[in-house]
Amino acid sequence: EQDPRISKISSAIRVIPNFPKPGIMFQDITTLLLDTKAFRDTIDLFVERYRGKDISVVAGIEARGFIFGPPIALAIGAKFVPMRKPNKLPGEVISEEYSLEYGTDKMEMHVGAVQAGERALVIDDLIATGGTLCAAIRLLERVGVHVVECACVIELPELKGRDRLGDKPLFVLVSST
Ligand code: PRP
Repeated sequence: EQDPRISKISSAIRVIPNFPKPGIMFQDITTLLLDTKAFRDTIDLFVERYRGKDISVVAGIEARGFIFGPPIALAIGAKFVPMRKPNKLPGEVISEEYSLEYGTDKMEMHVGAVQAGERALVIDDLIATGGTLCAAIRLLERVGVHVVECACVIELPELKGRDRLGDKPLFVLVSST
Protein backbone atom coordinates (compact mmCIF):
# COMPACT_ATOMS: atom_id res chain seq x y z
CA GLU A 1 0.00 0.00 0.00
CA GLN A 2 1.47 3.32 -1.09
CA ASP A 3 1.29 6.24 1.33
CA PRO A 4 -1.54 8.55 0.17
CA ARG A 5 0.83 11.54 0.30
CA ILE A 6 3.01 10.12 -2.47
CA SER A 7 0.63 10.69 -5.39
CA LYS A 8 0.29 14.39 -4.49
CA ILE A 9 4.05 14.75 -4.28
CA SER A 10 4.39 13.04 -7.64
CA SER A 11 1.87 15.36 -9.30
CA ALA A 12 3.53 18.44 -7.82
CA ILE A 13 6.75 17.65 -9.71
CA ARG A 14 6.75 19.30 -13.12
CA VAL A 15 8.27 17.50 -16.09
CA ILE A 16 9.83 19.75 -18.73
CA PRO A 17 10.68 17.99 -21.99
CA ASN A 18 13.95 18.71 -23.83
CA PHE A 19 15.67 20.52 -20.93
CA PRO A 20 18.60 21.10 -20.65
CA LYS A 21 18.97 19.35 -24.01
CA PRO A 22 16.86 17.47 -26.55
CA GLY A 23 15.54 14.12 -25.34
CA ILE A 24 15.86 14.85 -21.62
CA MET A 25 12.62 14.94 -19.58
CA PHE A 26 13.67 17.31 -16.79
CA GLN A 27 12.15 16.56 -13.38
CA ASP A 28 11.52 20.03 -11.96
CA ILE A 29 11.12 20.00 -8.16
CA THR A 30 10.66 23.81 -7.96
CA THR A 31 6.91 23.28 -8.42
CA LEU A 32 6.93 20.83 -5.48
CA LEU A 33 8.45 23.63 -3.36
CA LEU A 34 5.52 25.90 -4.28
CA ASP A 35 3.01 23.38 -2.91
CA THR A 36 3.30 23.89 0.83
CA LYS A 37 1.44 20.69 1.71
CA ALA A 38 3.35 18.47 -0.72
CA PHE A 39 6.70 20.01 0.30
CA ARG A 40 5.96 19.43 3.98
CA ASP A 41 4.79 15.86 3.25
CA THR A 42 8.04 15.20 1.36
CA ILE A 43 10.13 16.23 4.36
CA ASP A 44 7.82 14.39 6.79
CA LEU A 45 8.11 11.11 4.87
CA PHE A 46 11.90 11.23 5.14
CA VAL A 47 11.80 12.32 8.79
CA GLU A 48 9.39 9.50 9.69
CA ARG A 49 11.82 7.02 8.11
CA TYR A 50 15.05 8.32 9.65
CA ARG A 51 14.04 9.61 13.09
CA GLY A 52 15.42 7.40 15.85
CA LYS A 53 17.94 5.68 13.56
CA ASP A 54 20.95 7.24 15.31
CA ILE A 55 21.93 9.30 12.25
CA SER A 56 24.28 12.16 13.17
CA VAL A 57 25.02 13.45 9.65
CA VAL A 58 22.76 14.41 6.76
CA ALA A 59 24.99 14.89 3.72
CA GLY A 60 23.26 16.91 1.00
CA ILE A 61 24.43 16.98 -2.60
CA GLU A 62 24.67 20.26 -4.50
CA ALA A 63 22.41 21.76 -5.56
CA ARG A 64 18.99 20.34 -4.76
CA GLY A 65 20.17 18.15 -1.90
CA PHE A 66 20.69 21.53 -0.19
CA ILE A 67 16.92 22.12 -0.31
CA PHE A 68 15.71 18.80 1.11
CA GLY A 69 18.62 17.97 3.43
CA PRO A 70 18.55 20.76 6.03
CA PRO A 71 14.91 20.44 7.15
CA ILE A 72 15.42 16.68 7.52
CA ALA A 73 18.65 17.21 9.46
CA LEU A 74 17.01 19.67 11.87
CA ALA A 75 14.02 17.40 12.44
CA ILE A 76 16.08 14.30 13.26
CA GLY A 77 18.71 16.17 15.28
CA ALA A 78 21.59 15.62 12.84
CA LYS A 79 24.11 18.06 11.44
CA PHE A 80 24.00 19.06 7.76
CA VAL A 81 27.10 18.65 5.61
CA PRO A 82 27.16 20.07 2.06
CA MET A 83 28.76 17.94 -0.68
CA ARG A 84 29.86 20.57 -3.17
CA LYS A 85 31.05 21.14 -6.70
CA PRO A 86 34.82 21.78 -6.91
CA ASN A 87 36.46 24.96 -5.60
CA LYS A 88 33.42 26.18 -3.66
CA LEU A 89 34.35 25.16 -0.12
CA PRO A 90 36.87 27.52 1.55
CA GLY A 91 38.45 25.13 4.04
CA GLU A 92 40.55 22.01 3.56
CA VAL A 93 38.64 19.49 1.45
CA ILE A 94 38.78 15.91 0.32
CA SER A 95 37.49 15.28 -3.17
CA GLU A 96 36.24 12.44 -5.30
CA GLU A 97 36.04 12.32 -9.09
CA TYR A 98 33.15 10.73 -10.89
CA SER A 99 32.22 10.19 -14.51
CA LEU A 100 29.53 12.02 -16.42
CA GLU A 101 28.09 11.27 -19.86
CA TYR A 102 30.94 13.36 -21.28
CA GLY A 103 34.03 13.79 -19.11
CA THR A 104 34.28 13.86 -15.33
CA ASP A 105 33.20 15.98 -12.40
CA LYS A 106 34.39 16.32 -8.85
CA MET A 107 32.65 16.44 -5.48
CA GLU A 108 34.18 17.99 -2.38
CA MET A 109 33.58 17.86 1.37
CA HIS A 110 35.21 19.77 4.21
CA VAL A 111 37.78 17.80 6.20
CA GLY A 112 36.66 17.78 9.84
CA ALA A 113 32.95 18.15 9.07
CA VAL A 114 32.46 14.49 9.93
CA GLN A 115 34.28 12.04 12.18
CA ALA A 116 35.08 8.36 11.69
CA GLY A 117 32.33 6.17 13.11
CA GLU A 118 29.48 8.62 12.47
CA ARG A 119 26.28 7.41 10.78
CA ALA A 120 25.17 9.35 7.70
CA LEU A 121 22.19 9.71 5.42
CA VAL A 122 22.96 10.99 1.88
CA ILE A 123 20.21 13.08 0.30
CA ASP A 124 19.61 14.39 -3.21
CA ASP A 125 16.57 15.31 -5.28
CA LEU A 126 17.08 12.66 -7.96
CA ILE A 127 19.04 9.54 -8.89
CA ALA A 128 19.69 9.01 -12.58
CA THR A 129 22.82 6.93 -13.35
CA GLY A 130 23.79 6.87 -9.66
CA GLY A 131 27.26 8.27 -10.29
CA THR A 132 26.70 11.28 -8.07
CA LEU A 133 25.45 9.29 -5.08
CA CYS A 134 28.33 6.80 -5.51
CA ALA A 135 30.86 9.63 -5.28
CA ALA A 136 29.20 10.94 -2.11
CA ILE A 137 29.26 7.46 -0.54
CA ARG A 138 32.95 7.03 -1.42
CA LEU A 139 33.84 10.42 0.09
CA LEU A 140 32.12 9.63 3.38
CA GLU A 141 33.45 6.07 3.57
CA ARG A 142 37.01 7.27 2.93
CA VAL A 143 36.89 9.13 6.23
CA GLY A 144 35.33 6.23 8.11
CA VAL A 145 31.70 7.34 8.12
CA HIS A 146 29.01 4.65 7.84
CA VAL A 147 26.47 5.56 5.15
CA VAL A 148 23.22 4.10 6.47
CA GLU A 149 21.14 4.85 3.36
CA CYS A 150 20.75 7.17 0.38
CA ALA A 151 17.44 8.98 -0.13
CA CYS A 152 16.03 10.81 -3.13
CA VAL A 153 12.69 12.33 -4.01
CA ILE A 154 12.80 10.89 -7.54
CA GLU A 155 14.33 7.81 -9.17
CA LEU A 156 14.66 7.27 -12.92
CA PRO A 157 14.57 3.45 -12.76
CA GLU A 158 15.36 2.94 -16.45
CA LEU A 159 18.90 4.23 -15.86
CA LYS A 160 19.52 1.53 -13.23
CA GLY A 161 21.38 3.88 -10.89
CA ARG A 162 20.22 1.70 -8.01
CA ASP A 163 22.35 -1.21 -9.29
CA ARG A 164 25.42 1.01 -9.20
CA LEU A 165 24.95 1.53 -5.45
CA GLY A 166 25.49 -2.20 -4.88
CA ASP A 167 24.36 -3.22 -1.40
CA LYS A 168 23.82 0.36 -0.25
CA PRO A 169 20.10 0.88 0.46
CA LEU A 170 18.28 3.53 -1.59
CA PHE A 171 14.94 5.01 -0.53
CA VAL A 172 12.90 7.02 -3.03
CA LEU A 173 9.44 8.56 -2.90
CA VAL A 174 8.62 8.67 -6.63
CA SER A 175 9.68 6.55 -9.60
CA SER A 176 9.49 8.30 -12.95
CA THR A 177 9.17 6.30 -16.16
C1 PRP B 1 21.36 16.13 -11.05
C2 PRP B 1 20.62 15.65 -9.81
C3 PRP B 1 21.64 14.77 -9.15
C4 PRP B 1 22.40 14.19 -10.32
C5 PRP B 1 21.97 12.77 -10.57
O1 PRP B 1 22.20 17.19 -10.71
O2 PRP B 1 20.21 16.72 -8.99
O3 PRP B 1 22.49 15.49 -8.28
O4 PRP B 1 22.11 15.01 -11.48
O5 PRP B 1 22.62 12.22 -11.70
P1 PRP B 1 23.35 10.83 -11.67
O6 PRP B 1 22.53 9.88 -10.82
O7 PRP B 1 23.37 10.39 -13.11
O8 PRP B 1 24.72 11.03 -11.13
P2 PRP B 1 22.80 18.15 -11.82
O9 PRP B 1 23.87 17.44 -12.58
O10 PRP B 1 21.65 18.67 -12.64
O11 PRP B 1 23.53 19.32 -11.00
P3 PRP B 1 22.83 20.52 -10.17
O12 PRP B 1 21.99 19.88 -9.10
O13 PRP B 1 23.97 21.28 -9.56
O14 PRP B 1 22.02 21.33 -11.12
